[in-house]
Amino acid sequence: MGKGSLKRLGRRRFLAGAASVALLSGVVSRAHAQARALPIPRLVDSAAGPIRLEAAGATHAFGVGWPSPTMGYSSTYLGPTLLFRNGRSADIEIRNLLDEPTSTHFHGLLIPAAADGSPHHPVAPGTTWRTSFRVAQPAATAWYHAHPHGATGRQVYSGLAGLAIVEDLDARRHGLPATYGIDDLPLILQDRAFDAEGRLVYLNRGPAMMMGMRGATFVVNGVVDPVARVPAGLVRLRILNAANARNFDLAFDDGRPFAAIATDGGYLREPAQLRSLVVAPGERVEVVVDFSSGLGVRLETGSDTTAALAGRLPISGRIMGRGSGPLLRFEVDRALPAQGRLPDRLRELATVHVRPELVRRTLSLDMGTSMMRGSSEHGGAHASPFGINGKPFDPNRIDFEPRLGGDEIWDIAPQMMSHPFHVHGAMFRILEIDGEPPPAHLAGEKDTVLATGPTKLLVSFRQPATTEHPFMFHCHVLEHEDAGMMGQYRTI
Ligand code: C2O
Ligand code: CU
Ligand code: CU
Repeated sequence: MGKGSLKRLGRRRFLAGAASVALLSGVVSRAHAQARALPIPRLVDSAAGPIRLEAAGATHAFGVGWPSPTMGYSSTYLGPTLLFRNGRSADIEIRNLLDEPTSTHFHGLLIPAAADGSPHHPVAPGTTWRTSFRVAQPAATAWYHAHPHGATGRQVYSGLAGLAIVEDLDARRHGLPATYGIDDLPLILQDRAFDAEGRLVYLNRGPAMMMGMRGATFVVNGVVDPVARVPAGLVRLRILNAANARNFDLAFDDGRPFAAIATDGGYLREPAQLRSLVVAPGERVEVVVDFSSGLGVRLETGSDTTAALAGRLPISGRIMGRGSGPLLRFEVDRALPAQGRLPDRLRELATVHVRPELVRRTLSLDMGTSMMRGSSEHGGAHASPFGINGKPFDPNRIDFEPRLGGDEIWDIAPQMMSHPFHVHGAMFRILEIDGEPPPAHLAGEKDTVLATGPTKLLVSFRQPATTEHPFMFHCHVLEHEDAGMMGQYRTI
């Protein structure tokens, strides 16, 4: 799609915002008639030629107050959904039209570190970053987002994030719902704070830094309180938690069950039946929901109780943002085609096997405790309360050197609160969370895990990283990451 369609999209979104302003000023009876349709980011197929994106400042209507200054990837906020295919190559160009450096990381794509964007290689304003890679991984929902050192939180918050889908023709034989925008819907979940005029507010000090930036307003695919029209059948939701810090505790307001079918790295062995589900920042989960009854429903989130490690940190409701509430509404439209089915088996997944000779590492995700150690080691100049194993991120330090092709056991020790721990360029299997084996919906290949207590991972390193192009591992509370809860590895 060319520029014209982007403009049209921007204009449509603007009008949606204007309608909601009228709504706020008292035209209440039209609330339902003017409900915002869930925006579906356009799909850009990497097989159709090089993907060209522009990271740029924009103005976007979320549906609260006036439009806000934002950033987007060739969009007023967020970016298109990028479609990759297992076994095919992709060429991508991202032009930086911001007035500050940025870089773009493909979170969940298994590609060499040199082909990925990272804090190490900022792209200067006015310049273009080009990358090419071959996609070799099973079907999965991944994403891409800004990752410049120290400004990741602010840039992602402003809108620099988008979804990515890896398609695998083999997996299509499942018969799962797979028509993008009809019965296969992206849901990019975020929370945001707005000022009285409707402008985004971003802070990264005080409580917003300790707990990560949170807001009282929920935003789905860039708008507040949208309605999704779905067929009277099975619908797949590709859920991404793209919030800076907030965990979403998802459930339908009629209590209906749903099936989790995939996690970060792709399909589970078999569908896992659930009635509620916690998704942490950076995590993706695909679920299948049955709408054949024709009844509409709301998807809601409970309060973020998972953030606090019992009794460690006093957390007030004000700091955590709004406790709970609706995210979006689904309405059944019988005119839409319903075709999908839910298979019993999804994928062969190797049984996790822990060989005793594996390298073991412990990673303490530190808040505050590392400040003392940090200040004595660095004379206070680089002291940050956030770090891993007592050390804040240092771009000139390689923390670990795992063997390319090898596996290691990583023991994640979260301090003060639970932290969503993420590794670039690798997938892991969860061996234990808080002494327990993972629940069925987390028993697949993962790249991000909410460490609600001591968490044991079996990490598989299959992509090369070097001193010049290392891979990161970090807490996906972006304010924690920006403040230093990040390390890096190269493979040997
Ligand atoms: Cu979404 Cu460094 O990660
Ligand atoms: Cu990542
Ligand atoms: Cu953290």
